[in-house]
Amino acid sequence: MIVLVADKFEQAGLNGLAALGCTVVNQPGIGTDKLGAALAESRADVLIVRSTKVPASVISGASSLRMIVRAGAGVDNIDVGAASAQGVKVCNCPGMNAVAVAELTMGLLLCCDRRIADQTAELRAGRWNKKEFSKTGAGGARGLMGLTLGVVGVGAIGQEVVKRATAFGMRVVIWSRGITPQHAGALNAEFGGTDTPALLALASRADAISVHLPLADTTRRLFNKAFFDAMKPGAYFINTSRGGIVDEAALREAVAAKGLRVGLDVYENQPAESEGAFDPATARLSGFVGTHHSGASTEQAQNAVAVETVRIVRSFKDTGRCLNCVNE
Ligand code: MLT
Repeated sequence: MIVLVADKFEQAGLNGLAALGCTVVNQPGIGTDKLGAALAESRADVLIVRSTKVPASVISGASSLRMIVRAGAGVDNIDVGAASAQGVKVCNCPGMNAVAVAELTMGLLLCCDRRIADQTAELRAGRWNKKEFSKTGAGGARGLMGLTLGVVGVGAIGQEVVKRATAFGMRVVIWSRGITPQHAGALNAEFGGTDTPALLALASRADAISVHLPLADTTRRLFNKAFFDAMKPGAYFINTSRGGIVDEAALREAVAAKGLRVGLDVYENQPAESEGAFDPATARLSGFVGTHHSGASTEQAQNAVAVETVRIVRSFKDTGRCLNCVNE
């Protein structure tokens, strides 16, 4: 079985694939433009990607391709419809990086409250400013304990966030299309509803919102002007899921109008490549703290994803069964 790996993948994963007897073609960073040619040339049965986009044009030209594995949870960089039309299975690794993303979420939340990035910038500029960073009231740190956190989406990542936020003494309210009051109660959280009016109601009462939804037609720009208008002045908005879920222009307006503090790991027009120029207007706003879609990028998480990816390939190779298939 030939496996083309088109993004950076842990060495343990590459070794695991080789140990299965696969021929591994490791071309991290090859990019979407050259992906079609690489698939044709390698005659790969399996493609493994992380952030690289896999559009219909690439899939339709890949006559040997039988399975695409997303080494992560979200599959929005893969044209799943085109894969299905061609009988190509698409699998993912849900939950493997949930703790890592939840840890970053808590980091961004703390950074919003304590302005850790602003404090670091002052120190780097050679300034001591205890005066600014000790103030209370507008612009100051509130302390997370007792604040109401709205967790939107409670898949594996959302659930890990709920646990951590509860441990910080936050009052957690969950909104999700599939949540029931019983399920919320089992997570030691409050039921926040399942529809759009309930989402807006949550926005209006939460001190902080953290988003954990996949990008789909139903979630694209779900966080829009109406949502940000409903948020409390000075509240915190954290997004570690997908940039396309947020109308970033509306978010910027709300930051300017009512001093929202924002922690983002993902952006509307972020690059698919792992490095390059990127200058989002949102990052220049005061009250912004941001990371580079690195939520899943801990050694622990990437090792777990690599192990799961090898398990998926092994099953496919030995039995033809596709584990975690999203287009069965
Ligand atoms: C995911 O979908 O699991 C994350 O966005 C992963 C990543 O950065 O690879």
